[in-house]
Amino acid sequence: MLSLKSIDLKKVKTETLIIPVCEDRDIHDDKTVSSLITKAKKLKEFKGDMGEEVIFYTPPEIKADRVIFMGLGKLEKLNAESLRAFAGKAVKKCINMKLTEVLIGCPSAKKIKMEMPLPLEAVIEGAYLGNHLFDKYKGEKKHSSLKRISFLVTPAVAKSSGKILKSIITVCEGTIFARDLINTPSNDKKPEQLTTIIADMAVKENLKVKIFDEKELERKKFGAILSVAAGSRSEPRMIVLEYNPKGAKKTVALVGKGVTFDSGGINIKPTTGLDGMKSDMSGAAAVSATLITLAKLKPKTKVIGVIPVVENMPSGNASRPGDIVKSYSGKTVEILNTDAEGRLILIDAISYTLKKYKPDTLIDIATLTGSCVVALGEKIAGVFSSDDELAQSIISSGEKTYERCWHMPLPDDYKEDLKSDFADIVNISNSRWGGSITAALFLSEFVGDTRWAHIDIAGPSYMKKGNAYCGVGGTGFGVRLFCDLLEKL
Ligand code: BES
Ligand code: MN
Ligand code: ZN
Repeated sequence: MLSLKSIDLKKVKTETLIIPVCEDRDIHDDKTVSSLITKAKKLKEFKGDMGEEVIFYTPPEIKADRVIFMGLGKLEKLNAESLRAFAGKAVKKCINMKLTEVLIGCPSAKKIKMEMPLPLEAVIEGAYLGNHLFDKYKGEKKHSSLKRISFLVTPAVAKSSGKILKSIITVCEGTIFARDLINTPSNDKKPEQLTTIIADMAVKENLKVKIFDEKELERKKFGAILSVAAGSRSEPRMIVLEYNPKGAKKTVALVGKGVTFDSGGINIKPTTGLDGMKSDMSGAAAVSATLITLAKLKPKTKVIGVIPVVENMPSGNASRPGDIVKSYSGKTVEILNTDAEGRLILIDAISYTLKKYKPDTLIDIATLTGSCVVALGEKIAGVFSSDDELAQSIISSGEKTYERCWHMPLPDDYKEDLKSDFADIVNISNSRWGGSITAALFLSEFVGDTRWAHIDIAGPSYMKKGNAYCGVGGTGFGVRLFCDLLEKL
């Protein structure tokens, strides 16, 4: 439960008050908070430096069991992301202290001079996301999420920001939904199970839902999807979600890679880190969570989510290197590497989307290549688009949400490396280098002249370490990005 509160700290009882402190400036509107900070800063060990913390127990000035001061460093260094991190850290600290509720003293927008997102928005986001634990597979639960998080604001802000609070909570719920899907082990999210989980949520939010089963995929000749699924005991699926508001003028289609486990297939992957390949459906998680969130936010654009879902396994039935398959588009693909499966399922989903919905804009999101992680590291996604304006919109949404994106090139002449001796195209480049680029170029061969962008999230979709407002595992990268972007498109 999250709420905005404007209370008199001297009169109302609180269990825990957390106060973010700047080293060189007062960033609060509340006079009592400011006077407490002055007192805290008299201590030798607390100056408000980044990472410093001090606790007052039952301070005489207010009715709180404890006040935790957390240093943020200098005002000029402060930004939305450091506020998200502060709030996430604050909540995590309370969880570790086995507390059940907290009141966070929110910094003043006027004093910080920050907009888009406002300091309050960043704090709410960090607190909400930081409060989530994925512990449903643990027998003994050592920690539990806080039951109540309140934000101390001025009466004016409390009055005007109710809507903002609600929409941030909605987007964060979506992000958490995506994280949970990604963290779910592959034995509990076979394609059939994953599509059912998504469909159930989508139906609840009144989205139009259609699921293609294996028979229908065969009938409609989704040759590339079927070829990836062939090695698995689990049948493939494709799920289509429609958000169709009245009077919509534009249609945006989102296509998300849904590989519930990527063993590599016959080109089997080496042992290390294979468990991480349960996250190879992070694109699917982002797209489904975005649609479910949009159904609640109700923007004016029509948005279609198309999600091919398969498991990539080696077996006597699996596709072999050298196999040639006919994709949904009619083009034939020579499979030179069964581990380049994402692009195979994506081209069928993309071709279907274009034919059926003729969207104004199509964006696909996928944990597509290790090369993209080599290029940009684990925290930044690659954006590939020949439409500079679209790429720029994605990148600026990335800056606002701190789901960072970088515009990568799509050089025409690299397509040379995708020529096949026997089919229309090969699924891996003949060159060792620039693998994220050639993967994107492969996709580009199937988008025609539709305004299109591809987002490679192989790096930022999953965290082996976790940070202030995301635990180890799925990050839900893409949900906050898309929700912001679709407001603009
Ligand atoms: N799912 C992987 C990409 C990936 C790698 C995601 C690391 C997350 C972390 C994808 O299907 C894959 O295996 N790509 C290959 C492509 C290669 C065979 C051309 C890769 O990146 O090695
Ligand atoms: Mn693969
Ligand atoms: Zn994959």
